[in-house]
Amino acid sequence: MAKKRILSGMRPTGKLHIGHYVGALENWIKLQDEYDSFFLVADYHVLTTSLNTDHIYDNTIEMMIDWLAAGLDPEKSPFFRQSQIKEHAELFLIFSMLITKARLERNPTLKEQVRDLNIDNLIYGHLGYPVLQAADILLYRGEAVPVGEDQVPHVEITRELARKFNTQFGKVLPEPEPLLTKFSRLPGLDGDAKMSKSLNNTILLSDQPEELWQKLRKAVTDPQKVRKNDPGRPEVCLIYTYHKKFNENEVPEIEAGCKSGELGCFDCKKKCTSAINSFLEPILDKRKHYENNLDEVKQILASGEERGKKVAAETMASVRSVMKFG
Ligand code: TRP
Repeated sequence: MAKKRILSGMRPTGKLHIGHYVGALENWIKLQDEYDSFFLVADYHVLTTSLNTDHIYDNTIEMMIDWLAAGLDPEKSPFFRQSQIKEHAELFLIFSMLITKARLERNPTLKEQVRDLNIDNLIYGHLGYPVLQAADILLYRGEAVPVGEDQVPHVEITRELARKFNTQFGKVLPEPEPLLTKFSRLPGLDGDAKMSKSLNNTILLSDQPEELWQKLRKAVTDPQKVRKNDPGRPEVCLIYTYHKKFNENEVPEIEAGCKSGELGCFDCKKKCTSAINSFLEPILDKRKHYENNLDEVKQILASGEERGKKVAAETMASVRSVMKFG
């Protein structure tokens, strides 16, 4: 039986952090064997929140290096930029005729962004963010979309657009399902629920051991555990969350030590640093290779774009044909 197809993507915001890994990349790496996979660099989507295009390309390259270093295999899964495959713009235009302004205004992900970023003059393209995302997915006839919880409303809009297109013009497009990432959120170093570049609370996939220690050393823990022998509450401590993700074997011991007070935060952070370091070590090694061979990275992207372009062109040919655009 043919493998099912997945498509997912990220906006190129530069070097990735372990929250990206846990929320998306780890899952993509697992899925790439089981599915026919396509991975997109959503560089046009960056424009929805910033018109500064100076760093988009460099950020893309940094992100490609992280994808490769973490274990995405470009032979199995082509990587490509939205901006290099014109069909994204074409399908986006057609889709924008199939959805109402009111439907887009109801999108909870948009509402959250408007609130968090204090946007009072929403641009048309930002309102249309999920329409472009639907084009990203359906151009490759993605049947499943591995994403975190926050993107589910966009996959729902994608399904609605596919249905609308199919009933209006002819059945060409699949209705994709979201494939939810289980452990989808990692808290930031400041204790915020979300690790994010704009909050400046991240651990990067490219952090060197010493940088990592400096970050963890300053991280907040249980505020009630002031000195070593004070009993702590692991369930409120973000370091404990990191242990659960990166240091599973030692968790029972750490939990007991924290609760009894025997294990102090300094030592606990040392253990955590060492666990995250062991996870990052192979990634850092591979990263070094790609940093020293940027031409290889650019070549990988170019060949992914060639492969992506073929599929996108096929889909657009069917779309145009059922719409009787010659
Ligand atoms: N909106 C996604 C995000 O912010 C990025 C994205 C763009 C995407 N196009 C996509 C994700 C298509 C999945 C499929 O994370």
